Amino acid sequence: MIKVNSPLIGDEEVEAVAKVLRSGILAASRYVREFEEEFSRYLGVKHVVTVSNGTIALYALLKALGIGGGDEVIVPDFTFFSTASMVAAVGAKPVFTDIDLSTYTIDPNAVERSVSDRTRAVIAVHLYGHPADMDEVVKVARERGLYVVEDCAQSHGAEYRGVKTGGIGDVGAFSFYATKNLTMGEGGAISTNRDDVAGFVRLFRNHGQTRRYHHEVFGWNFRITEVQAAIGLQQLRRLDYMNERRREVARIYLEELSSVEGIRLPVEKPWAKHVYHQFTIWVEDSSLRGKLAEFLGGRGIQTSVHYPKPLHEQPVFRGYVANPNCCPNSSAAASHVLSLPMHPLLTDEEVVAVARAVKEFFSNPP
Ligand SMILES: Cc1ncc(COP(=O)(O)O)c(C=O)c1O
Repeated sequence: MIKVNSPLIGDEEVEAVAKVLRSGILAASRYVREFEEEFSRYLGVKHVVTVSNGTIALYALLKALGIGGGDEVIVPDFTFFSTASMVAAVGAKPVFTDIDLSTYTIDPNAVERSVSDRTRAVIAVHLYGHPADMDEVVKVARERGLYVVEDCAQSHGAEYRGVKTGGIGDVGAFSFYATKNLTMGEGGAISTNRDDVAGFVRLFRNHGQTRRYHHEVFGWNFRITEVQAAIGLQQLRRLDYMNERRREVARIYLEELSSVEGIRLPVEKPWAKHVYHQFTIWVEDSSLRGKLAEFLGGRGIQTSVHYPKPLHEQPVFRGYVANPNCCPNSSAAASHVLSLPMHPLLTDEEVVAVARAVKEFFSNPP
């Protein structure tokens, strides 16, 4: 079976976890601090604050920015659920906005059209590991006085014009879920140069305590453990290697698949460093997507669809959608995209085998 996704866990992670367990110090302590310092240096930002997961990172940063009832936040329509669900969780309204089909990230022109008097922030998602066109997003946001949030759950180490994602807007949100480019199993963090945002999230993740049993704000327990941080530190130290391997896998796919008719391949814009969280192809004839997935499955090749339903069509968001025709590109993407196996453990032979199976399918489509 060629898996669509797999973490690279080495002896370093195993030994780091054993060391933590033997130390008897399991709750957040020096490894959490070390991870936060090392990741902030890696990103080139002043602060990284870890929290339970990427969903909570979004929730905490929206709270830190003071976003709540009566506010609107612009989100791409084509992304994972929590980018928008956390906007609703703080009491604000997610405004579903269309994407650019060359990168599957938010379309800055559509952002401009989504702005209203109530808009407070725009969340750009660096989907599949390719950065959104941040200069354009930041330009619209600055003209309108909006916060810029980056959802970096899929873009650890990706760069926009030489700057790491998570250090471009006001604040970034990372996920360290099992399938991410950098994993702790579960985990998350915010990245920011703003002392006020980092300070708030530090309080918010720990019951709002400024010192033990002294609670300044309503906080929760959104902390990670030493075990998670120890894994994260080892992952961080091999992140560039793992991303480079993903980029090599992508190069093989791009070479092998360049002449296949019936699909569009992912692009890397000249201003971008893509870290290929996913290698997602566009199947021109959407009626063939399921058949291709089935064909590959029959060859022991897993695939996946990120994402089969645009957010504005999700039942839970029904009450937030003013215009059901808001996002034609997002709707189209949901029925055309298919993600092929992409992770650092893939061998060259496996990648070639996947590509050849795709070629074979399109040489004589059903
Ligand atoms: C774009 C995006 N945002 C947010 C999240 C949420 O992260 P987590 O699963 O750690 O809560 C994910 C995770 O899948 C994601 O892909």
